[in-house]
Amino acid sequence: MDIKAEIKRLAKERDAVILAHNYQIDDIQEIADFTGDSLALSIEASKVSNKTIVFCGVHFMAETAYILSPDKTVLLPEKDAGCPMADMVTAEGLRKMKDKFPGVPVVCYVNSSAAVKAEADICCTSANAVNIVKSIDSDKIIFAPDMNLGHFVSRFVDKEVILWEGFCPTHRRLTSKEVLELKGKYPDAVFIAHPECNPDVVDLADHVCSTSGFYTFVKQSDKKRFIIGTEKGVLYKLKKENPDKEFIIAYDTFQCKNMKKITLKSLYESLRDMKYIIKIDEDERLKAYDSIKKMLEVPRNY
Ligand code: 13P
Ligand code: SF4
Repeated sequence: MDIKAEIKRLAKERDAVILAHNYQIDDIQEIADFTGDSLALSIEASKVSNKTIVFCGVHFMAETAYILSPDKTVLLPEKDAGCPMADMVTAEGLRKMKDKFPGVPVVCYVNSSAAVKAEADICCTSANAVNIVKSIDSDKIIFAPDMNLGHFVSRFVDKEVILWEGFCPTHRRLTSKEVLELKGKYPDAVFIAHPECNPDVVDLADHVCSTSGFYTFVKQSDKKRFIIGTEKGVLYKLKKENPDKEFIIAYDTFQCKNMKKITLKSLYESLRDMKYIIKIDEDERLKAYDSIKKMLEVPRNY
């Protein structure tokens, strides 16, 4: 069986659009109708006209698509594709934090469950976090769950940022020692980091941005060599769009194992069997929708 042809045939039959995050395996990125960072995928999910959205990413991303488009069938091809950072905060935990800081607005990274989003005032992604925090009329905010992104934002705003202590294990694994070694080895290389990296790694970066920001930055740069401080899935498009440039991944196994769970086989089976359907309780969806909708009204930074 030609699995790619079968996926295309089934997608047509099911009136399905395939959305894929920039960290997906090359084959998935190649077959997707649309690839992007979390923000671009949310925007796309809010405006597609297809009956079905197959989300090749992790659970919170598919959930966000459902929150934005509840009239569509949203499928996640691997039901266990989660995000360990999103699991580091619960709605109950966040409520306790809100009790500790009454009246302080909560900014919630989209890497979180719908129940957590429902507790927040507004969501953000790595592409718009600085603008989102700036847009809030308060000199203090709670930022959850990524302490590294929250710390990054605090560099640009004149507000107290109270951090929830969550993190991405994949980005946290990168050390400044490794980056310094690479910089020593390739002194002409430009180092680009995702804001989920540790603050001392971010300190060494020439540019910090969302996953899609890597593409924009590299494309417009006249430099030839780049050290990539994010998950290696971005290499697919970076290499395709910039055949004359060289990319060095900051550490060999810079890989999110959840993002890599989806394969052509699971995408095919997802479309064939219409699984796994992502749905949430309507009350929760409406509250989470509010936080996401507000986010979409603020322009992106990167
Ligand atoms: P982006 O929003 O930059 O695509 O990042 C999502 C993510 O999960 C990074 O680890
Ligand atoms: Fe979550 Fe990190 Fe994987 Fe992104 S790379 S989905 S933050 S675990």
